[in-house]
Amino acid sequence: MADRIQVLIVDDIPETRDHLAKLLGFEPDIEVIGTAASGAEAIEQAIRLLPDVVLMDINMPDMDGIAATERLSAQVPGAAVVMMSVQGEADYLRRSMLAGAREFLVKPFSSDELTASIRQVYSREREKAGRTAVREAARAQDPTVEGQVVAVFSPKGGVGRTTIAVNLAVAAAAELGKKVTLVDGSFQFGDVAVLLNLNPKDKSMAELAPELEQGEDPESVETYTQTHSSGIQVLLAPPSPEMAELITPAGVKRVIEILRGHNELVVIDCAAWFNDTLLAILDQADVVLTILTLEITSIKNTRLFLEVAEQLGYSHKIRLVLNRADTTLGIRVADVEHSIGRKVDHTIVSDGRAVVYALNRGVPFVLSNRESQVSQDVFRLAASIVGNRDSHDEDDHKGQKGKSLFAWR
Ligand SMILES: Nc1ncnc2c1ncn2[C@@H]1O[C@H](COP(=O)(O)OP(=O)(O)OP(=O)(O)O)[C@@H](O)[C@H]1O
Ligand SMILES: [Mg+2]
Repeated sequence: MADRIQVLIVDDIPETRDHLAKLLGFEPDIEVIGTAASGAEAIEQAIRLLPDVVLMDINMPDMDGIAATERLSAQVPGAAVVMMSVQGEADYLRRSMLAGAREFLVKPFSSDELTASIRQVYSREREKAGRTAVREAARAQDPTVEGQVVAVFSPKGGVGRTTIAVNLAVAAAAELGKKVTLVDGSFQFGDVAVLLNLNPKDKSMAELAPELEQGEDPESVETYTQTHSSGIQVLLAPPSPEMAELITPAGVKRVIEILRGHNELVVIDCAAWFNDTLLAILDQADVVLTILTLEITSIKNTRLFLEVAEQLGYSHKIRLVLNRADTTLGIRVADVEHSIGRKVDHTIVSDGRAVVYALNRGVPFVLSNRESQVSQDVFRLAASIVGNRDSHDEDDHKGQKGKSLFAWR
């Protein structure tokens, strides 16, 4: 059978390797193509055998599973790692995900959990490869893209800017097939790398902005961004807060101009305070998604921001997004609207379980939990932003256009 899932088992204990191989031997769609007893052997075997999935033990003498996964991600990117560990602690999980593992299994696990993880990882990787191919074909047909820039802002911290920016960018790429770059514009304390499981030590805005400001070759932008498994490009924040000083408003402006030319959608996760780099972002943005929650402080600050925005001439690009909308909090949406003197444009439901689970796994909920209400709300937001653009020249009713995009429902 040509399209069986090819699995490499890596564990230093021979009995464990045999046991796993036996378990998987019962599955008609899975084939164990090799086993390895150490990290070094795993890399050798993976280069030779090109497995679809690598079952990797985290604790091994010499090179441990995390180091081996890091090397595998670089050398055999097509092999998706499922990490196995006796420890289920968040730190292990996080380090594994940062190294590039796609799934995490805590020992002892059942045979069903094992096979479900392998199948899920495999089908996610296949879908991803398919989507990239479709997108490349679309771009080849129409290379003249001039992207839309969406700044995700709030005048108060901790209201969900990063959560929304990340999931919006991924939804626009994965569901709507758009070419998307996500920028971590929270230059001092950016969280995007954590939510997407990317290595924060790689190149960032701190290298790109000064380079572009000095008029360097704009073609070089993609050497500063990282590709996330969902297909989006990500321009990270600097790895340490003091490096944020290297980023000037002029540099930010150039970065956005260049990214706009290379993408259909540029999503920027902004910081929560006003300074000149933030203003450079808001100036460039076509849409400022302003996030608020049902808390009195958030509502008050939003009202103040709307006043400033009016003075700065931004009012027309603001869209209000009420995050963590929950009817049990004692404040109703109508009260909010009354208080700020404006309609809320979008709401996103509160779902701590889905959101925090996704955060801790480093996999956006729009990928791992598509059916949840919170994902559906983000899909709707993405469709409304991208859809509005698409319908500019069409004599199409806005609502109808929105509906026709809900193909995932
Ligand atoms: N719709 C939601 N439902 C439940 N929890 C949410 C939702 N949106 C965000 N959260 C949670 O709220 C917290 C803050 O979210 P997030 O980090 O995205 O906010 P932020 O505005 O980017 O914060 P910061 O000011 O630190 O950059 C996180 O713990 C996140 O998991
Ligand atoms: Mg944030």
